[in-house]
Amino acid sequence: MNYHVLTLFPDMIIQGLGESIIGRAAARGVISVEAVNIRDYTANKHKKTDDYPYGGGAGMLMQAQPVYDAWQAVVKTIAESGRDAQKARVIYVTPKGKPFVQEMAKELAREEDLVFLCGHYEGIDERVLEEIVTDYVSIGDYVLTGGELPAMVMIDAISRMAPGVLGNEDSGESESFSNYLLEYPQYTRPEVWRGKKVPEILLSGDHQKVEQWRLEQSMEITKRARPELYEKWADENQEYFIRKAKREERARKRELKREQKKNSLQYPL
Ligand code: ADE
Repeated sequence: MNYHVLTLFPDMIIQGLGESIIGRAAARGVISVEAVNIRDYTANKHKKTDDYPYGGGAGMLMQAQPVYDAWQAVVKTIAESGRDAQKARVIYVTPKGKPFVQEMAKELAREEDLVFLCGHYEGIDERVLEEIVTDYVSIGDYVLTGGELPAMVMIDAISRMAPGVLGNEDSGESESFSNYLLEYPQYTRPEVWRGKKVPEILLSGDHQKVEQWRLEQSMEITKRARPELYEKWADENQEYFIRKAKREERARKRELKREQKKNSLQYPL
């Protein structure tokens, strides 16, 4: 995966993505991150990239020309690397976009090149957006001061899903959201910390029981924090409730039999 970020703050991108798992993936060449400074492409002799909005209103807008020329430079770089530049999607991160969710991260992880366009001030001249943008994406219902953090958030989540970024034993699939349920609680050593014990079941060595406990924890947490996600999971996993009801019915019958046996021993005819 090759990321190209069009931004007025390239250092923010390079520093923000240079550490930890994403930084290591870049160092290994599994992904590449190029930050292109839009200011380097302005035709304005004072290096200006913004101007007042026609029709009036608060704030400044990023101008079309430097954004377009920076994008063209990226297209050229991609083509020179022997890849199809026409196929490279251009994502404009904006609160007006489609909500970014795990499913979208998974889908975008299949691309070879992704171009991110980071806005600043009050936005970008509509004409260049019409010309180059393929996807409008928002990372949530709040307004940030610029597109760099949303671009980094997306690059992080997309990279986790790209082949070779996480270690072999670590699948991006196994975490919260992969099946609508949030992740269960986890514990590591020591067994007792500030008087709090690790749940007994996790020390039992019974893999099946541990799995069952984790699923129940996930269900509880999701029901409480994200009821709408829980409903989706419940809808798609109706057989879980059927199996559970059958299990409980069998346990009830066993209990009844035990009671009857006990009573017949206590009060023989
Ligand atoms: N730019 C500013 N706020 C944003 C948001 N919530 N999502 C994506 N891009 C943004």
